Order: sequence, then C-alpha cells, then structure tokens
Amino acid sequence: SSSVADGDRSTSVPRDECCNIPPNIWKRVGADLHRRPGHPLNTIKRHIEQFIIQRATEHQWLADGVVNCFDALSPVSTTKACFDDLLVEPDHPSRAASDTYYVNQTHVLRTHMTAHDVQMIARGERAFLTTGDVYRRDEIDRAHYPVFHQLDAVRLFDPDKVSGLGGNDLIVSDLQDTLNGLARHLFGADTQVRWVDATFPFTQPSFEMEVLYNGEWLEVLGCGQLRDGVIRAAGLDAERHKGWAFGLGLERLAMVLFEIPDIRLFWSEDERFRKQFASGELGVKFEPYSKYPPAYRDITFWLSDAFHENAFCELVRETTGGDVVEDVSVIDSFTHPKSRRKSLCFRITYRHMDRSLTGEEVDDMQFRVRARARDELGVELR
Ligand code: PHE
Repeated sequence: SSSVADGDRSTSVPRDECCNIPPNIWKRVGADLHRRPGHPLNTIKRHIEQFIIQRATEHQWLADGVVNCFDALSPVSTTKACFDDLLVEPDHPSRAASDTYYVNQTHVLRTHMTAHDVQMIARGERAFLTTGDVYRRDEIDRAHYPVFHQLDAVRLFDPDKVSGLGGNDLIVSDLQDTLNGLARHLFGADTQVRWVDATFPFTQPSFEMEVLYNGEWLEVLGCGQLRDGVIRAAGLDAERHKGWAFGLGLERLAMVLFEIPDIRLFWSEDERFRKQFASGELGVKFEPYSKYPPAYRDITFWLSDAFHENAFCELVRETTGGDVVEDVSVIDSFTHPKSRRKSLCFRITYRHMDRSLTGEEVDDMQFRVRARARDELGVELR
C-alpha cells in the first residue's frame, strides 16, 4: 500500500520522498502483539492496566468515570504530536531521519507512546493509559529491535487540589507512590526501588525508576510532572491543570520478568515459545528450547559520508529477512594516518530462532549484505 491510516484511522497519509521505511518495518505495522491474548507483552500490559485501574478507584483519581485504556491507536503520528507538542527541540536527535521512520515530511511512525498525550488531554481524558508499537532505527543486538512496545500513563489532578503552594510536591509524591506500588505488583511485595534524576523535554522534574532485581539495579521507566507547555498545547490553563506522566518499554520488562533472552522471540510464531505463555500469568519463566548454533561473518569497509551505523544495521536486517541476525558489533576500527579515512570491521552474528542455518545460506546472506552496503551506503569494501 502507498498510504496508511493516521492517528484517528479516518484518513490516509501519503508517502513522499522523505519516506525511509523499509518493507520489513511496514510488515510489522498492525501486528499488534500487545493485543494478542496469551502473548507475554499482552500479559504485562493487562497487569499494569489492572493495577492502575485499582489504584485509581481506591484513591478516587476521577470524580466520575474510569481510567480509559487505549491499545489500538494508529502508530502513524504527526511530527507535531510526536515532538512539537511535547516541546522536543527542532534539532533534537530523536527527530533525525537516522533515528526515526518518516512516512512523509510531516508524519512519522511514533517513536514513543507519549505522542498521544496532548490529543488525549485535549479531548477531555484526565487519567488514561495508552499501549502500542513504537518505532526507532537502531543497532542490532539481543535487546534492540526497530519495533517495540510501550505503555504510557497520564494523570491530571482536580485543579482545586493542586493549585496552591505544595501542589507540585503532591503530584510528585503521588507519582512515586503509584509507581512504587506498580513495581511491587510486578516484581514482588518486597521490591526495592530507587529514583534517578533524568531529563525529558516534556516533564519537569523528571525521574527514572530503577528496581533492584537479582542483585542488579534495572532501569524500568521514565516519568515526571508534565510541563506547563504540554498542558497548554492541549488547550488547558496550566495554572490550574497539572499532572504526571510515565512511560515504559514492555519488551524490557518482559525480558526480565519472564527471563526471555532475545527480543526477536516476541515475534516468533513458534509454538515452543507461544505455548509457554498461554496462561497469561506473571511468574512464568521461559524454558529455552534448543538454541541453534551461531555463525559469525566479518565485513570491513572504508566509511562513506552517508554512512550511519543504524542504516547499516537496517540494511543487514532487510537483506537477511528480518530475524536471522542476532547481533552486529564493531570489532575493529582504523583511521588511516595520512588520509584520515576511517575503516570499520563489523562482526555479524547469524542465528535463526527456530531452526539451524547452513553455511551456504549464511555465505549467501553475507554476500548480499556486502553488495548492498557497497551499492546503497557507498562504502568501500576491503
Ligand atoms: N517517552 C519517554 C521515552 O520513550 C518515556 C516517558 C514518558 C518519560 C512519559 C516521561 C514521561 O523514553
């Protein structure tokens, strides 16, 4: 198709020459892993939703109505909603075409679920959750995939309760209480949590929550008090309307909680993966089935001006069909003393999730990666 539905699924967004979305990424739009019953991402989403709804009821977040949970919003976002409304500066790296998938000059595949916050507030939502697929061009390893899933939450407060002095303290302490409770709900009743100062363009103050798990501090989510500029972008008076937001990556949580070792497994149709999670319960630990042996191939080239590591990784994924490569790492770099030209050597780890690869298959893929890197990225092979 040459166009895709936009945020309200009512109109179509045409592509233009800015479009940098390859076929393997288009293919993922609409897969909706987070909505499949028994999928680990759905299980985590449901447990977070349940927790927030219960907390909102107990603490009377809303005078009337319930916390609305949205999980079918289109991933095509305007740059206004994804960046401008959230006070992301014009030259912020997250807007770069090397990091973000553009449909056309004014539309992207959302890079975070926060892209929906302003519209939702503008249409009257006061406490809500959004869950969906988000897209970022990135490097390749067992924890990174160009499509992943996030859950975001927003709570706005009754203006009469937070307008005076001390209102901001109340917002931050409610945010931290809520998230302490969420951490215990997901990780266990005696979970230790710590708060690390952070920066996001749309919140102030901002924090990252870390959880002590198996002896390691694990970064779980980003959060903070919504900036006045975000509230104003939604058409509200920021003197009166205040609130908090948080956002978290579902794969990251699921990999820790369920002991899932490779992010590509979430996309596997293999029954040996799927059936282990069918109960939809937390507390399941993944039992690895036979892991097929890896095959390594190195590629070395002189960089071109157009070279970007994300683009190279994407080319590797596209050339090999999506899920065959486990890792791409720089293992050597060299700058010529006279010409100052730079050369990099990448090691590509080939390993299919569901079957073994033959040496011939791997050689063939490596051959095609070399040819495309030369032709499409302009690098000089060595
Ligand atoms: N959108 C941020 C991210 O993708 C997370 C976040 C959401 C931070 C809401 C603060 C408030 O990392």
